[in-house]
Amino acid sequence: MSGNRGVVYIEPGKVEVRTIDYPKMQDPRGKKIEHGVILKVVSTNICGSDQHMVRGRTTAQLGLVLGHEITGQIVEKGSDVERMQIGDLVSVPFNVACGRCRSCKEMHTGVCLTVNPARPGGAYGYVDMGDWTGGQAEYVLVPYADFNLLKLPDTDKAMEKIRDLTCLSDILPTGYHGAVTAGVGPGSTVYVAGAGPVGLAAAASARLLGAACVIVGDLNQARLDHAKKQGFEVVNLSLDTPLHEQIAAILGEPEVDCAIDAVGFEARGHGHEGAKHEAPATVLNSLMQVVRVAGKIGIPGLYVTEDPGAVDAAAKSGALSVRFGLGWAKSHSFHTGQTPTMKYNRQLMQAIMWDRINIAEVVGVQVISLDDAPRGYSEFDAGVPKKFVIDPHKTFSAA
Ligand SMILES: NC(=O)c1ccc[n+]([C@@H]2O[C@H](COP(=O)([O-])OP(=O)(O)OC[C@H]3O[C@@H](n4cnc5c(N)ncnc54)[C@H](O)[C@@H]3O)[C@@H](O)[C@H]2O)c1
Ligand SMILES: [Zn+2]
Ligand SMILES: [Zn+2]
Repeated sequence: MSGNRGVVYIEPGKVEVRTIDYPKMQDPRGKKIEHGVILKVVSTNICGSDQHMVRGRTTAQLGLVLGHEITGQIVEKGSDVERMQIGDLVSVPFNVACGRCRSCKEMHTGVCLTVNPARPGGAYGYVDMGDWTGGQAEYVLVPYADFNLLKLPDTDKAMEKIRDLTCLSDILPTGYHGAVTAGVGPGSTVYVAGAGPVGLAAAASARLLGAACVIVGDLNQARLDHAKKQGFEVVNLSLDTPLHEQIAAILGEPEVDCAIDAVGFEARGHGHEGAKHEAPATVLNSLMQVVRVAGKIGIPGLYVTEDPGAVDAAAKSGALSVRFGLGWAKSHSFHTGQTPTMKYNRQLMQAIMWDRINIAEVVGVQVISLDDAPRGYSEFDAGVPKKFVIDPHKTFSAA
């Protein structure tokens, strides 16, 4: 049997690559399963969602093996796996879903009712998501494999596009879900808050859906410069010119049709002074201000129920000063939650294979080795305009 190594959360601000157990065909409760596969991990990405844990902004247990963005090759399968074969190259939705419960049957795979005894919704390597071992590792278990896995049809062609296809496990479907739930369609004007990988994936998705103008906002000038190079309009929220005025300077009016929050609860305030502090309701409040009446707001940005590092007592339990009355008065629709990845990953795979979207370039994919993961975490945390993709077996970094 092979050994295994993975990225482990040691303490706030620190991850290390350590020897971990080789996966067993059992669920986190110790029950033996036959519906799972063991994957040799081909690529696994570092996500802004991981950063919330590593910054100590969640109740994640020390010692957690991280990683929910996984692409891999099947090396072992249980006797109940019928559709997937050993050797298949597969994309793993970051949600763990059973395919049998009411949520899964309705394709709300982000809130599967059975894979996490504590609350609806499961994920690999994530706090409060059912204790499924993370996949920033050499090998990982994927349960309910027939339901969860997306087989990449042609391994050779897929390996040529692996830098793009690695984004199918989370950020591309997440950005796309943000754009779809914001009502983006042909001719839409769109504002995306956040120029991290999810914001850029949302912007690229809005373009794929036919948006007329996509404006990306952040306070990080390097990330905005990168977004501009990718063909998006940009606004800098650390300037004292308010967001609606910056939007008006681009569109000729201070409102957009659709908006996407790709920031979440660690949002900074706006303006020269505001930017110095965290202000968790800023993005939600500013989106209600700039979205037209009857518009929709997609909220893939993460909000938590417990935040040990919150700026005030209310925010410690996820209660924010949201100006809900404004959204109500403008008849806004809001869409929150974990992305039901499976709803979109097949179509987005085709969009990648047929060159309809160049997601790796848009998000700035940079491939690193497993041993370099701690450096990837710290550079990503410092806000470089990159999406770090770990290549644990050095399968494609040479290509
Ligand atoms: N819903 C889901 O299923 C899902 C999936 C993946 C990621 N996420 C969440 O999406 C969010 C973004 O992920 P990421 O990987 O791009 O993270 P990231 O941390 O790299 O990017 C967030 C960006 O927001 C910027 N920002 C901070 N305050 C801002 C403000 N007021 N206005 C505009 N920009 C601001 C930051 O400078 C940063 O560049 C995170 O909260 C992550 O947890 C959710
Ligand atoms: Zn992610
Ligand atoms: Zn389910």
